Amino acid sequence: MRYLTFALAKGRLAKKTLGILEQIGITCEEMKDPDSRKLIFVNEELKLRFFLAKATDVPTYVEYGAADIGVVGKDTIMEEGRKLYEVIDLGLGKCRMCVAGPASAKELLQHGELIRVATKYPNIAKDYFYNKKHQTVEIIKLNGSIELAPIVGLSEVIVDIVETGSTLRENGLEVLEEICPLSARMVVNQVSMKMEHERIQQLITQLKDIM
Ligand code: PRP
Repeated sequence: MRYLTFALAKGRLAKKTLGILEQIGITCEEMKDPDSRKLIFVNEELKLRFFLAKATDVPTYVEYGAADIGVVGKDTIMEEGRKLYEVIDLGLGKCRMCVAGPASAKELLQHGELIRVATKYPNIAKDYFYNKKHQTVEIIKLNGSIELAPIVGLSEVIVDIVETGSTLRENGLEVLEEICPLSARMVVNQVSMKMEHERIQQLITQLKDIM
């Protein structure tokens, strides 16, 4: 039996994912050591390997087959646009992808004006404005603290993740339009899905049962 390899998005999501996997009897003790600098962890008994990667890289590892299975947010899956199968909504890290800005920007969205949109998710923003709203916009890629952009005049609106809404509120911004709901998904490499169908399908069934 060959190893099945999992790529997990490091951080809170990886911890929660391991919690879910434990419920179906999949454990990886050596991964729990907070002081460990190891990058890859093995469960010899179950012939499983786990590694932690930056969330945006998880779909890449899975598309190329370096990992058979990945767990990552829907935002990253949409933004990266990789070829893979999305098999389960794990319901973790629920939040929303939104267009946000000051209340005064609402009008600019309604009248389809040429506005600037700052975001960490240029592909999601492009798809939303060009293909769904048919509004021409200028997209400005940022890497974090996106809420700053409309405050300092870099853009009229932002496309970003909203979880509790407190970052927006505390900065005088609000949700103007909702693009889609988000949560963590399990994704599978397309070849692995065929070659390891039985093992992967069993895993999917077990996870669905506890969802
Ligand atoms: C995310 C997101 C928002 C914030 C939303 O940022 O980009 O800024 O969380 O959460 P809230 O609605 O509960 O306030 P993150 O903390 O990941 O950091 P970033 O700003 O560097 O992207």
